Amino acid sequence: MGVKKEARLRGRFKEDINEAAQHYLASIPYDYRLYKYDIEGSLAHAEMLARQKIITKGDYAKIRDGLHSIRREIESGRFQFKLELEDIHMNIESRLFELIGDTAGKLHTARSRNDQVALDMRLFTRQATEDVIGALQKFNSLLVNIAEKNLKVIMPGYTHLQQAQPVLFSHHVMAYFQMFSRDIQRFESCLSRINIMPLGSGALAGLPYPVDREFVAGKLGFDDVCANSIDAVSDRDFIIEFESAASITMMHLSRMAEEIVIWSTAEFGFIEVGDAYATSSSIMPQKKNADAAELARGKTGRVYGHLTAMLTVMKGLPLAYNRDLQEDKEGLFDTVDTLASSLEVMKGLVASIRINAARMKYSMQSYILATDIADYLVNKGLSFREAHNVVSRVVSYAVDNNRDLNELDIREYKGFSKLFEKDVLTISLHKSVEARSSQGGTATAQVKKSIERARDAIRGYEKEQS
Ligand code: ARG
Repeated sequence: MGVKKEARLRGRFKEDINEAAQHYLASIPYDYRLYKYDIEGSLAHAEMLARQKIITKGDYAKIRDGLHSIRREIESGRFQFKLELEDIHMNIESRLFELIGDTAGKLHTARSRNDQVALDMRLFTRQATEDVIGALQKFNSLLVNIAEKNLKVIMPGYTHLQQAQPVLFSHHVMAYFQMFSRDIQRFESCLSRINIMPLGSGALAGLPYPVDREFVAGKLGFDDVCANSIDAVSDRDFIIEFESAASITMMHLSRMAEEIVIWSTAEFGFIEVGDAYATSSSIMPQKKNADAAELARGKTGRVYGHLTAMLTVMKGLPLAYNRDLQEDKEGLFDTVDTLASSLEVMKGLVASIRINAARMKYSMQSYILATDIADYLVNKGLSFREAHNVVSRVVSYAVDNNRDLNELDIREYKGFSKLFEKDVLTISLHKSVEARSSQGGTATAQVKKSIERARDAIRGYEKEQS
């Protein structure tokens, strides 16, 4: 990017801009990404100006054709972005002057960069939100497929990362489906506040021209127009909300990543990630690391950082526009890129996983059925607290004697409570799972129901997309 002194907008000054300050102020190194939205917004604005007879039809046609050529130049890589032109808005406007002459100056009638940049950011964030929703829906389809395929697999469920009760592997997978479903809802809810049109607010006070904001909103697919011009140019809540929803999604991905890392260890051995998503060590050739999962976990930190940064940028800002707001961009762009790549890579990684059902099964100690033995006594008339006491003593006896619960015989059981009968020896992992048939529980019938409901939701997404 060449740097030159630039006279535009400096008419009232006697000195050129300081070079370090020029670099400091410029946003073009990153806001070039907004070009598509900037041009789309300008096209709608110019069309409205002509319809309202604020500019002539002839001027509009020139502006429109000029903007189309600029879009082609940018997309073919021929466009020269210039640092001295500061941002994407001035880069495009300056090129428009080169292409169509002084008529270019009419495009900025009834518009300020303040409402222009707010518009571009809303269009960008709207697209990003729709893309994230699509990616989350695809991830959810994958999770439902995995859950459906592995309905017979039983794994230890954990609390405090200690074996707690047996659960269906599919039930565990469907827990993530629920998290991502809420993430989708959150992004959908954001969309309703993102999709409001700020143009027509001018610098802050509104405009002394007969603009038709509804027309521009309709052209650009907005649901409504911003109700207050001061708010419209100074509000970045929609970015904060997006970053907040993104942070929550990254947190969910990170929890999943953490489990993938733990489950891939020799100690667990529950899963093996596909070679395409694994790396080895430069020194220890036996290693197979789930690095992609570790990075998804690690990248969660920067997304939280962008949220905190933006909240902090906003907290002391007087109304209306302040240049601090330019700091919204890099964090948002990086949030969008990080979230998109994390979802894509984690989805691929999850799809590549091989499940070791036998390992899951044999990792379970007999003690994982202790609650079932307590529930057994409750069925025989004991209160749960009493039953819990009895089984605690059984477990302690078994541990002290280095025995598994299923190795104790009925006489030993009877020593702890007369209520024990032979059938206590038939308590099994399978029975334990199937007994938990309360709504939302791990019994196969319940998990199948949740998969069916998930399939309905997925059919719903697919219908929306088509
Ligand atoms: N690059 C600026 C931003 O991102 C565009 C708006 C500039 N407006 C202004 N009054 N200087 O916020």
